[in-house]
Amino acid sequence: MDYIAYNRQSWGVELTLCRPEALNALNLEVLHQLDRALDQIEQEKNLRVAILTGAGEKAFAAGADIAAMRDMTPPQAMEFSAYGQAVMGRLRHIPAIVIAAVNGYALGGGCELALACDIRVASRTAVLGIPEVTLGVIPGFGGTQRLTRIVGESRALELLATGRRVEAEEALRLGLVNCVVPGEILLDTCRDMAGRIARNSGWAVALGKRSICQGAEMELNQGLALEAALFSAAFSGPDQKEGMDAFLQKRRPKFHA
Ligand code: CAA
Repeated sequence: MDYIAYNRQSWGVELTLCRPEALNALNLEVLHQLDRALDQIEQEKNLRVAILTGAGEKAFAAGADIAAMRDMTPPQAMEFSAYGQAVMGRLRHIPAIVIAAVNGYALGGGCELALACDIRVASRTAVLGIPEVTLGVIPGFGGTQRLTRIVGESRALELLATGRRVEAEEALRLGLVNCVVPGEILLDTCRDMAGRIARNSGWAVALGKRSICQGAEMELNQGLALEAALFSAAFSGPDQKEGMDAFLQKRRPKFHA
């Protein structure tokens, strides 16, 4: 069974979670296939951007698979959480920018997956939330940590403790998503954004992502030192001379393919 569709596009890669009959719920096999897809993404040359979305009309992903978790022992739950965290953590470490096209329910592990992406674009019908306490558990794929960093401790606690669902417009106000668009243009909006990213220097985009993501885990002074080191690294990259020459010569840059 193929749970992940991998489509190479002119601007990058489009990944689709393909388990619509279970609202793209994340079981071990789906996580495993996502992990393999990320291996493949790492092999792509000069990949600047990827889009992640869910198949079907209703869901990005409705969470970790509840049926699969029902009989887990505590050690199995620990292993499942560690694996889910590791797979989602990879999204932040790959050089390409990952855009989540949140096309419906993004609950529990599905919300955590969206939060692990770099940018979230939601359809008007998107519904996000971490309802795990309604099931007697807590988020296990990074939600308690990433949600808190994105919306702050008090809002994260409220969403965790109530388990309530957040509709797209509120998600936008909370900063949970970057923008909200009608469902019919969700993928095209993400593809336009991806195309815009793909026109820039991939080398610089990757350095910038590293500076923001690694820097966010550091003290300010360490983060600034990291930024200076990566700024300097850009000057040994393939695109700095071309980008600056193009500006000075009033033409479009031709960045490293
Ligand atoms: N796991 C397993 N199966 C799921 C699922 C999940 N998280 N979410 C939905 N499904 C399945 C349903 O069981 C159903 O299957 P059947 O047709 O075989 O009965 C199918 O997907 C369609 O779902 P519904 O009939 O429930 O669809 P709906 O439109 O009535 O409701 C919904 C949609 C509100 C999203 C509802 O499906 C729902 O509440 N899902 C669970 C959401 C949730 O609690 N997620 C958190 C999971 S825990 C977690 O993720 C832990 C972690 O952090 C690691």
